[in-house]
Amino acid sequence: MSLRARDTGVRELMDDPDCDPDRLAATLRRFDAVNRLWSGWAALYRRRLGPFLASLERPARVLDLGSGGGDLVARLAAAAERDGLEVRWLGADPDERALAVAQRRASPRIEFRATDASSLRADGERFDAVVSNHVLHHLGAADLAGFADNSLALSDGIVLHSDIRRSRTAYGLYAVGVTPLAPGTFLRTDGLRSIRRSYRASELEAALGRPWAVTDASPFRIVAEARARA
Ligand SMILES: C[S@@+](CC[C@H](N)C(=O)[O-])C[C@H]1O[C@@H](n2cnc3c(N)ncnc32)[C@H](O)[C@@H]1O
Repeated sequence: MSLRARDTGVRELMDDPDCDPDRLAATLRRFDAVNRLWSGWAALYRRRLGPFLASLERPARVLDLGSGGGDLVARLAAAAERDGLEVRWLGADPDERALAVAQRRASPRIEFRATDASSLRADGERFDAVVSNHVLHHLGAADLAGFADNSLALSDGIVLHSDIRRSRTAYGLYAVGVTPLAPGTFLRTDGLRSIRRSYRASELEAALGRPWAVTDASPFRIVAEARARA
């Protein structure tokens, strides 16, 4: 199969509102292991988010848009706590089924809500940083523009959207690496479809336009970053 161009026609099983709820819940729970292994957020926190939050020298508020099973928020919150940073976290996802899985990670510092970027913006919510993981490649062109614009409007500081970088190496390694995690989930089919739907850095930068900068974070990852409008 050619990965030269994005395959925008392929649809992920978890995006079907009528998909098997048990498999979906198992998929959301197991995103934890997948994200630990592949998402690159430990490095992104160390390099970008952690230093930015520390530079504020005051308590901060961070939003994870499309928080799924909530594992990324929980991991970032633990990292910030280890660094002695006082941060309140909100994981937002319009899918109630995701909320049900994420809720078990809620804590005095971590809240989850079934809502999306445009509703949060309409409610006048503000954050010091807005992040997302594996959301951009799910969206069609119009939704991508709206999502990116809303994420920027919600932030007083930085926005970091991390996603898969489409490549043959990512496809081959994921196909093998996901095998022990895949039973009972959509991880194999959806992960490979995700890679086919994903961008290369130059494609995403062209799709987002200014003020976004998109860089390769690793052979498998890209990060779209922008600073809040003054
Ligand atoms: C592949 S999942 C990624 C979940 C999680 N971020 C992770 O990395 O495991 C994509 C998530 O984005 C959510 N989503 C889609 N459109 C959204 C929007 N406009 N605002 C917030 N979340 C959205 C979906 O409901 C879904 O849970």
